[in-house]
Amino acid sequence: IRPLRVGIAGLGTVGAAVAGILKRQENALAARCGRPIRVTAVSARNRNRDRGIDLSGFAWFDDPVALAASPEIDCLVELIGGSDGPAKTAVETALSAGKHVVTANKALLAAHGVALAELAEANGAALAFEASSAGGIPVVKTLREALSGNNVSRLYGILNGTCNYILSRMELEGLTFEACLKDAQRLGYAEADPTFDVEGFDTAHKLAILTSLAFGTKIDAEAIHVEGISSITPLDLKMADELGYRIKLLGVAERTKTGIEQRVHPTMVPKSSAIAQVMGVTNAVTIDADAVREITLVGPGAGGGPTASAVIADIADVARGTAGQPFGMPVARLEQPTRAPMQRHEGG
Ligand code: HSE
Repeated sequence: IRPLRVGIAGLGTVGAAVAGILKRQENALAARCGRPIRVTAVSARNRNRDRGIDLSGFAWFDDPVALAASPEIDCLVELIGGSDGPAKTAVETALSAGKHVVTANKALLAAHGVALAELAEANGAALAFEASSAGGIPVVKTLREALSGNNVSRLYGILNGTCNYILSRMELEGLTFEACLKDAQRLGYAEADPTFDVEGFDTAHKLAILTSLAFGTKIDAEAIHVEGISSITPLDLKMADELGYRIKLLGVAERTKTGIEQRVHPTMVPKSSAIAQVMGVTNAVTIDADAVREITLVGPGAGGGPTASAVIADIADVARGTAGQPFGMPVARLEQPTRAPMQRHEGG
């Protein structure tokens, strides 16, 4: 049986965790997928950094695009990040050569997801992105597969672990915004540029992807009204607390009479509500749909292990040959979304 040969581009927190788990779970994954999964090549900026994994058995590429083009891999795992530049070129190179791509790159998908899905389709390759939204929570597969029989009316949740971690610690421990952000960076939760987290753009990227899957529409990230948490002060949190509320950064997408509305902003949620109980790096996504009614998924939204768990689920799908269509249907069938005019919203 031919093993699936994997090339990992980007060996940060998530990349190192993926390599570690693939090694540790080698036998179990081979049994579950019916063939072995083998990392054959890697690329990263710094070859000498200690990542706690043995790199000696892997071909090393300085350039992720050369890794993507290498005949030594069948599947590129893109964990570089960024909506353009080497990540995009590497993904395009792999797909154009008919290689499967697994990516956690929400910024890339929010900007170019439709074009990349078309490229994957045209070349008979898989493009899988479970890890792009809500870390370890299997929300992409839930929307794309498990809810196939539903019409979704609304989706909302906490989609950025860093912001929820910061807001939780500011409220419970009285720490400053800056101190909490530093800890989130140290723990490997934050983006390389944490502005994406705290200004709400990372939540918006994930929301754009989930909206597309939920409503069968083309990704429309530019329609999202975005407001982050950088101006939330300890006093805001204290006032909210006195009124019986918590402040959460929410991403919301709903079908209205005039189209699909997408928005990201800090929201006062009653302390007794389920979403107010979601603290720390945890994410939560609630989906309202006609047949199933309401589903809430809760779990770790960032960090090496949880994100690697989602990446490996996709690699396993590729190994089994069950990765399916990136958005659950042919790209040509995705609707052009109608944007709803932004409403004023009070509370969650
Ligand atoms: N920076 C992101 C977060 C990582 O904090 O949620 C996971 O996408």
